[in-house]
Amino acid sequence: MDSEQLSGELATILYTEAQLKARLEELAREIEADYPGEPPLLVGVLKGAIMVMADLSRELRFHAQMDWMVVSSYGAGTKSSGVVRILKDLDADITDRDVLIVEDIVESGLTLSWLKENFLSRGARSVKIVTMLRKPELAKVEITVDYVGYDIPPDFVVGYGLDYAEDYRNLRDVAVLAPHMYEKK
Ligand code: PRP
Repeated sequence: MDSEQLSGELATILYTEAQLKARLEELAREIEADYPGEPPLLVGVLKGAIMVMADLSRELRFHAQMDWMVVSSYGAGTKSSGVVRILKDLDADITDRDVLIVEDIVESGLTLSWLKENFLSRGARSVKIVTMLRKPELAKVEITVDYVGYDIPPDFVVGYGLDYAEDYRNLRDVAVLAPHMYEKK
């Protein structure tokens, strides 16, 4: 879906499909340089990470094995607790493997902080993180994000995997949702 089709629903386009692709190419070159030996296992956190995973993995010039996690915070309104429930676990054994977590967005950092510790406790050799977007102003925990596409303000953004009530994930660009879209619901 293109932004033009949604012009009344979006406030501004933050990054176009072409800009996202160009930035991912830069990140892919950095990642390749950092893993000269055995390639890392890419772990996507569903659902938001699907677009980043699809584009990044195809851009990488090494065999990129993929695995997926589905996680959820315990109960509604407790996202800030940092407690994460695993709804779908990894298929792969990550003992002694280098893991690269692939995310669409880092906000509080709680999900990734928990996941990183979880993977290390399972014996991963290393755990790094790549995210397309990050909202530094919403950070609640200090966490090293190794590869960041863009730092953005704490606006309500949608597209490129990011949803509002499950819509907009298939928007090609990243855009700020018009306030009237979420105020009316
Ligand atoms: C988003 C995103 C991260 C998490 C980041 O997922 O994909 O997993 O939130 O937030 P945090 O830094 O505050 O922990 P979301 O829970 O919206 O699920 P989704 O990917 O299925 O949309």
